[in-house]
Amino acid sequence: MTKTSALRTARRLDEVGFSEIVRIMNQVMALRAAGQTVHAFHGGEPFFNTPERVKRAAAQAIDENHTQYPPASGLLPLRGALVEKLARKNKITATTDEVIATAGSTQGLFAAFQSVLDPGDDVLVFAPYWTPIGDVIRCAGSRPLLLPTVTARRNGLSKTLQQFSTPQTRAIYLNSPQNPSGIVFTQAEIEEIAEFAHKRDLVVIADEAYEDLVYEGGHHSIASLPGMAERTISCFTFSKTYSMTGWRAGYAVAKEPFITGLRRMVLYSTIGVATPVQYAMLEALKSPESELAARREEFRKRRDLLVAALNDAGLDCETPAGAFYAFPNAEKISRNSQAAAEMLFEKARIATVPGSVFGAQGEGHLRFSFSVQIDEIEECAKALKKFFS
Ligand SMILES: Cc1ncc(COP(=O)(O)O)c(C=O)c1O
Repeated sequence: MTKTSALRTARRLDEVGFSEIVRIMNQVMALRAAGQTVHAFHGGEPFFNTPERVKRAAAQAIDENHTQYPPASGLLPLRGALVEKLARKNKITATTDEVIATAGSTQGLFAAFQSVLDPGDDVLVFAPYWTPIGDVIRCAGSRPLLLPTVTARRNGLSKTLQQFSTPQTRAIYLNSPQNPSGIVFTQAEIEEIAEFAHKRDLVVIADEAYEDLVYEGGHHSIASLPGMAERTISCFTFSKTYSMTGWRAGYAVAKEPFITGLRRMVLYSTIGVATPVQYAMLEALKSPESELAARREEFRKRRDLLVAALNDAGLDCETPAGAFYAFPNAEKISRNSQAAAEMLFEKARIATVPGSVFGAQGEGHLRFSFSVQIDEIEECAKALKKFFS
């Protein structure tokens, strides 16, 4: 019998990785601290500040001593406002007992996978994909099954979902608008995925982090389709819409038995979202749609500038329909996206994320965020020209 030391992490974590993007962020920070110019296009944060009203709401909550433990699922007025928003914008019908505040959508997603998956289960994931999800799935002792989004859209979604399914498949992770590709699934595509989930009796975990950043077509929530609310856990965030990445503010909506699963996971991991943050969330939800639309136009302007600059430089780039990332083909620099990112960083000081970070389906591409200031895009365009000259 072999005796292993107790000084090791649980086996469950053996397959769980760490974010490559954090490594790139640290590299950029170190160079900037040394006084060097870096064109930072690797990030995933909105380019504007958290709205003043939202900041004031949190400050006021602190001043008024709303600093005790929160109701673990969220303040009732907050849950009421979320129910109203879900009905109005997402066509999702829910009660205040079916929504829960979470620390960003990351906590909602973590709790969702923990609530649904048993060890040995498989999850269908459209790739390239937001990689932390792979680790979140592995944390539940399960396996992500990566299927290529572009090919699936061309060849038929249900056919491809069927092809990649295993007898252990329990769920589909559906991220639309998609990070890193900016792909937005159409209403017809969402309906096809829903039909497949019904037929195969699968749960859908919907990641709608970029719901307010759709430039072409509309955003469609799968839980709004007939019979889908029962088998969907939808996760949302304040991070991207209201520039609240550091606040850790999000929410999820689900029916029983999953909402009880989510409540348990949130209760035992954080006892809910920090109370002043919940007041800030409530204030953010009062933002008029016109404010969100104005910001979306700012994003669109940046998207168009960056996509034009990339294509001008010979990095073929489709115009993304949503989110705030361009995902050009970078094979002109190198077929290996890691090498391409390194060359661009070394020679032009442009920081991007190699496509391979988002799964093998992202190889040959680089992810550029266009959530930056306009003059930064102009500087990047100049740096790209110089790089290729
Ligand atoms: C697709 C996607 N889902 C979820 C998140 C998590 O965001 P947060 O935890 O800040 O809500 C991100 C962040 O970049 C994302 O890109």
